[in-house]
Amino acid sequence: MKKVFITGSSTGIGWQLAQDYHAEGWKVGVCARNLAKLPEGWEEKFPNMKAYEVDVKKKELLKEVIADFSQGSLDLVIANAGRSHGSKTTRPDFDVSRDIIEINVLGVLNTFDAALNVMWPNRQGHLVAIASVAGMVGLPGASAYSASKAAVIKMCESYHMDLKQYGIDVTTICPGFIDTPLTQQNDHAMPFLMKADKASRIIRSAIDKKMALRVFPWQMKTVMFILERLPRWLYRKVMGMEFANYSKS
Ligand SMILES: NC(=O)c1ccc[n+]([C@@H]2O[C@H](COP(=O)([O-])OP(=O)(O)OC[C@H]3O[C@@H](n4cnc5c(N)ncnc54)[C@H](OP(=O)(O)O)[C@@H]3O)[C@@H](O)[C@H]2O)c1
Repeated sequence: MKKVFITGSSTGIGWQLAQDYHAEGWKVGVCARNLAKLPEGWEEKFPNMKAYEVDVKKKELLKEVIADFSQGSLDLVIANAGRSHGSKTTRPDFDVSRDIIEINVLGVLNTFDAALNVMWPNRQGHLVAIASVAGMVGLPGASAYSASKAAVIKMCESYHMDLKQYGIDVTTICPGFIDTPLTQQNDHAMPFLMKADKASRIIRSAIDKKMALRVFPWQMKTVMFILERLPRWLYRKVMGMEFANYSKS
C-alpha cells in the first residue's frame, strides 16, 4: 500500500487530499495542531488513516511522527500546512509575520527534512509543497504571506533540479482562491474561487504527472503571468496602490 503524509490536513485542501488519497487506496498520515477539527467518526470511516497532533514548527517532533507513520517507506509527502493574515489597512504585525514565515517556510523545510530521512536511503519519493499564486508577486496586505510562498516556489524549483538525480521528485503547487476555512474569513473579492474537491483533483493529477510546477485555475494563472511581468509602477496602479509621491521605478 502506497503511503502519503500530508501536513495541515484537518481542514481545507489538506483534508480533501487526505480523503481522496484514502479513497484511491493509499495509507494516509494526517497532521495538525488540533485534531479536534477532524470530523467525528473519521477513524471508522477512514481505517487506513493515522492522525498526529503536531505543529510543523517543531522539527524534532515532526521527524518522530513521520518516521512512525512511514516505518521505513514513504512515497509522498505534501507540505500543506499554512497560515495567512491580511494587513492592508493596519500597521503590519511583525509577530504575525514571523509566525507566517515560520509555518509557511520553515514548516516546509521541516517537513521535507523529516520525509527525506525516510526517502533518501530508498532513493525514492516525492516532495510536494502547497505554495500559492500569492508568491508570484508582492500582494498588498500580504507581505509575509507573499514572501513565504515566493520562498517556497524558489526553494522547490532548486530542489526539483537537485534531487532528481537521487530518485526524489519535487512538485510545487500554486493554487488561486480555494473555498476553505482559510479563505472563508476573507472580506475581499475572490475571483475564480474554486471548490476544494476540484482543487484536489488538479493537485493529484499534477503530482501523478510529476510536474515541477502547477499553477491553477488557468484564469488566475493568466492574470498572475501578466502581473508578474508588468513594470512595477503599472503593477501598483493595477493593484490600486499608486500614490502621488511614488516614483516610477
Ligand atoms: N485556500 C486558498 O485559497 C489557498 C490558496 C493558495 C494556497 N493555499 C495554501 O494551501 C494550504 C492549505 O490552506 P487551506 O486553505 O486548506 O487552509 P485551512 O483550511 O486553514 O487549513 C490549514 C490546515 O493547516 C493546519 N495548520 C496550520 N498551522 C499549522 C502548524 N503550524 N502545524 C501543523 N498544522 C498547521 C490547520 O490545523 P490547525 O490550525 O489545527 O493546526 C489546518 O489543518 C496553505 O499552505 C495555504 O497557504 C490556500
